[in-house]
Amino acid sequence: MTARLRIEALGAAHDRKAFACGVEALDRYFHDQVGQDVRRRVTACYVACDAEGRDRVAGFYTLAAASVVLSEIPQALAKRLPRYGAAPVALLGRLAIDQAYRGQGLGGILLWDAVMRAARSEVAVFAVLVDAKDAEAEAFYRHHGFVSLDSEGRRLVLPLTGLRQT
Ligand SMILES: CC(C)(COP(=O)(O)OP(=O)(O)OC[C@H]1O[C@@H](n2cnc3c(N)ncnc32)[C@H](O)[C@@H]1OP(=O)(O)O)[C@@H](O)C(=O)NCCC(=O)NCCS
Repeated sequence: MTARLRIEALGAAHDRKAFACGVEALDRYFHDQVGQDVRRRVTACYVACDAEGRDRVAGFYTLAAASVVLSEIPQALAKRLPRYGAAPVALLGRLAIDQAYRGQGLGGILLWDAVMRAARSEVAVFAVLVDAKDAEAEAFYRHHGFVSLDSEGRRLVLPLTGLRQT
């Protein structure tokens, strides 16, 4: 799979309209809104392109700066942070794979691309934050090591301390 794909910043040449992950809100966002959000610098967007399908987009994610109030962070994590009131995070706002490319490892590859991009960033963030849209998405993130921030479990983080070394 990886040999056929390249991951790069969203550009004008990418065919956004053909993308279909099956979740209407995510498809609509990618078709109509993400370009404007990138131009306004309120998010970054990275896409996995099918090298054989030229600019066909197989999956995408968005990444933006955010912060989490310290009192929201479970004690076990918060004790490793200074008591500044809030801690900086990279928000993985959206992640979606086109239905034609599901179940082939691409979701995991894009998730780790986002995590490593946040870990390499020159702007410091202590974790990657996600708001899972449903139980299935939550299970996907837990499978990859994310832990809950809230009692409902839909807001999750992956701390980056230690990841840089590995
Ligand atoms: C969730 C989603 C991104 C997964 O992408 P995918 O390419 O089908 O998943 P992958 O093939 O990369 O799976 C990677 C790993 O995650 C696991 N996994 C996938 N979906 C899972 C789920 N819902 N629960 C638990 N584990 C899951 C796979 O078993 C695989 O495990 P392995 O590496 O140990 O073999 C994709 O189904 C999707 O786009 N869904 C619609 C949008 C969405 O829900 N986005 C996420 C929240 S906004």
